Amino acid sequence: MKHLAIIPGDGIGKEVIDAGLEVLDAVAEISTFEYDGEIFNIGADRYLSTGELLTDEDIDNLRKKDAIYFGAIGDPKVKPGILEQGVLLKMRAVFDQYINMRPVTSWFPFVPLKREVPFDMMFLRENTEDFYMGAGGKIGSAYGGKQSSLKIKRELYDLDVNVNVDASNDDDFAFEIGFLSRKGVTRFADYACRFALARGDDKITLVDKANVITNMYGFQREIFAKKAEEYGLELDFMFVDAMAMAMVVRPETFGTIAVPNLFGDILTDLGAQLQGGLGMGCSGNINPEGVSMFEPIHGSAPDIAGKGIANPIAAILAAQMLLEDQGYPREGKMIHKAVEECLRENKTTPDLGGNLDTKQVGSAVAAKILES
Ligand code: NAD
Ligand code: IPM
Ligand code: MN
Repeated sequence: MKHLAIIPGDGIGKEVIDAGLEVLDAVAEISTFEYDGEIFNIGADRYLSTGELLTDEDIDNLRKKDAIYFGAIGDPKVKPGILEQGVLLKMRAVFDQYINMRPVTSWFPFVPLKREVPFDMMFLRENTEDFYMGAGGKIGSAYGGKQSSLKIKRELYDLDVNVNVDASNDDDFAFEIGFLSRKGVTRFADYACRFALARGDDKITLVDKANVITNMYGFQREIFAKKAEEYGLELDFMFVDAMAMAMVVRPETFGTIAVPNLFGDILTDLGAQLQGGLGMGCSGNINPEGVSMFEPIHGSAPDIAGKGIANPIAAILAAQMLLEDQGYPREGKMIHKAVEECLRENKTTPDLGGNLDTKQVGSAVAAKILES
């Protein structure tokens, strides 16, 4: 029996998670997979009524679970960053989910590229460091002084940031520090190498911007080079700008792709679009020794929330990733096959050209599973 935390969150998060749960229930009905799901009310509604984001009590309760199934957060009534940092990024940091696994595969006929060549990329996005530490501030006359200091506590270290700016005039400054640790990059590289070998790839592509951000990404290249050699893997370096282009013109030439946090965020929205749209991109925030969290990569989509037209396939494929991670690969495949069949039969939401609503797509996938 698996104990799952369900966090629907905001906007279409609730809608797509409902569809995903219908699919998980279908899997549970015809297989040895059993689960109980506890729903957590975390997100904009609670924040707006109580001011709470991710509380210590939430964290204690979530820690007892086998895995977390997450929808999306973000609400136009809340200033950008509050929910994103206070819930989602805090969750990834607190549970030290240091790999964000994001598959990008060719779901024909929804691939918007001219060449119909199949591709199967796996983005491993580092998920705890880089420009996502929240290590920043504002300094200057408008912000009370020449100095800014802050402390950030992470699993691997306590980070103290002190920035002093002594400008000749009363100008203002804003900064955001990118940060990589040897331990952080080493575990990332190690995971990527083991993942590539298990997948049968003989090469890893490391994406960065080592021609400009030389300190961080030069450091990262050295650590990856050593690891790749240790595991007998080839290592290709790609600058992120060139990678964005290559993903469009030759996606079939990539397999396991390691990418730092910020660039990984951007490239995987592009990756989602290569699969048919944001409603197709799923992800797993993985801590190999701890509590992992599975979610679609899209957000709360306020523009379509409440209309019942959100594509739930990303959330359904996130449930597939959850099953695989929890030791149910056969059950994961059931979901994959059922999604494939629904796509082939155009049992889809309007973004993919179909005329079903969110709930109907969930039911169609569940029905395929029950028929199998
Ligand atoms: P978004 O991903 O919510 O939406 C971008 C566009 O894609 C919108 O036009 C939306 O309608 C469409 N879209 C997204 N998911 C879809 C689906 N399943 N089916 C059909 N269309 C879909 O990104 P945004 O609009 O930039 O952000 C909205 C909010 O979500 C913000 O508050 C943002 O911070 C937050 N956000 C949260 C997450 C997360 O929880 N993981 C991820 C990204 C953005
Ligand atoms: C994602 C989202 C998040 C990110 C935001 C909402 C913090 O865009 O999961 O891709 O940047 O990681
Ligand atoms: Mn994103």
